[in-house]
Amino acid sequence: MVKIRKMEDDAASLASLKPFRLVKFFSYSGLAVFLLFTLVLSWIISNHAKKVLLERSEAYAFVVAENLSHQVFQQFVLPTVVRYGKIALRNPEQFARLDAVVRNATHGMRIQAVTIFDSKENIISYSTVTARIGRVGEGGIEYRKALTGENNSVVRSTGSLLNLLPGARPISSQLSTFIPFRQYQANNQKGDVIMGVIEVVQDLSEDVVAITKLQGSIILTSMLIMSALFVVLGFIVARADRIIDARAEERRRLEQQLNQSQRLATLGKMVASVSHEIKNPLGIVRSTADILGKRLKSVAPGNEHLAEIIVEETGRLDGIVREFLDFARPQELKMVPTSVNDIFGKILTFMEPELERQKIVLKTSLAQDMPQVSLDQGLMHRACLNILMNSVQAMPEGGTLTVETRYEKETGMALLVVSDTGGGMSLEKQGHIFTPFYTDKNRGTGLGLAIVKNIVDSHQGTITVDSKEGEGATFTIALPFG
Ligand SMILES: Nc1ncnc2c1ncn2[C@@H]1O[C@H](COP(=O)(O)OP(=O)(O)O)[C@@H](O)[C@H]1O
Ligand SMILES: [Mg+2]
Repeated sequence: MVKIRKMEDDAASLASLKPFRLVKFFSYSGLAVFLLFTLVLSWIISNHAKKVLLERSEAYAFVVAENLSHQVFQQFVLPTVVRYGKIALRNPEQFARLDAVVRNATHGMRIQAVTIFDSKENIISYSTVTARIGRVGEGGIEYRKALTGENNSVVRSTGSLLNLLPGARPISSQLSTFIPFRQYQANNQKGDVIMGVIEVVQDLSEDVVAITKLQGSIILTSMLIMSALFVVLGFIVARADRIIDARAEERRRLEQQLNQSQRLATLGKMVASVSHEIKNPLGIVRSTADILGKRLKSVAPGNEHLAEIIVEETGRLDGIVREFLDFARPQELKMVPTSVNDIFGKILTFMEPELERQKIVLKTSLAQDMPQVSLDQGLMHRACLNILMNSVQAMPEGGTLTVETRYEKETGMALLVVSDTGGGMSLEKQGHIFTPFYTDKNRGTGLGLAIVKNIVDSHQGTITVDSKEGEGATFTIALPFG
């Protein structure tokens, strides 16, 4: 039965843990997916932006190049042929004229360089970059395509995201567009004769840097958001972990407590029934020994002490059995408004002969303004008696026993204080004296103070001890009113 319940409990705690583990798992994997997603997204966005940039730039370059070829043909080729009979760019005048026409046509446009290749051989006849003029074989596949009449372009780029880091090589990107340089006919229509190839170079570095920066900032922003999420999540997870741990711990503690109290309850019942069974025969033995003692007086004089030993020891046994019963019996309080001074008064009257015999001086200081306290008279009597008996037992060579009652207005507590000048206790010992069966007396049960504590607890009161080894001990019971 107990086992089944335990299994059910385990299953319940597992079930309460499971959803949380799932949440944890989903959060972490969600973060990973989010990271991947942003990386892919930033790549798609920047690639798309680059594609659009290239398409636009290429279209722009075609327009510029077409216009340029027209201008060059109209303003340079025609006039030069008319004037010189043929074109020879080695002639500085012709070169200057062409240069002026090109620079005019591209002025204010975002063009980095213009180069004109010859059609018969792969040689640069003209370039705004003067160093390139006259070089052979520089026109690649694009040049050859343009010679067949096809417009085309090529991008030369270096650098990536990493080149944005300080100290790295800057990103560069050039778009070179090649178009055939055709003769125009009289009606301004393009003819079939291709005289050369015009290359227009645009510098796209700035735009590419801007796009790459955008890509970087998308990644950076999402990483920032993610780290923030991660920190928050980590915090929540850690907190939840702590709460779950604490709950598990509390649960274990409660279970242990339950087990312990179940065991104690069973043990208590056992002790109570055994003690009860012992009590009656013990009473019979005691009264029989009493009668026996009287008879021995006449039958075998001088042996009465044997019967007295039986009476004494059965009396002691009876005391022990009563302590066991007191400790084990479930307590039902019968609360009655009572004067705590009266409780002490009764016990002290009863103990007076014993005190005298042990040469113990009694000092009392009972508060006269003490209001009545609602308590179980029998139990509180028992508690005070146990404390007083301990004190008497602690002073076998005599001493002073002080009994005091005090009314503390501020805390609303009635204080019952018992002090002795006996052997006292170390701090370590003070930690044990209220646990059941702790005793250092030969004939002690170790239950006296455990009973006191039970009784005081059931009255919602507190009991404290103040002692130093060799300097006596003071026990204080504080009881609330009401
Ligand atoms: N007034 C006191 N002075 C010194 N030691 C004390 C005093 N009262 C109790 N003790 C210590 O506490 C122990 C437990 O007391 P108690 O529970 O009454 O059991 P018992 O009296 O059977 O030993 C005693 O054995 C003793 O060592
Ligand atoms: Mg005792």
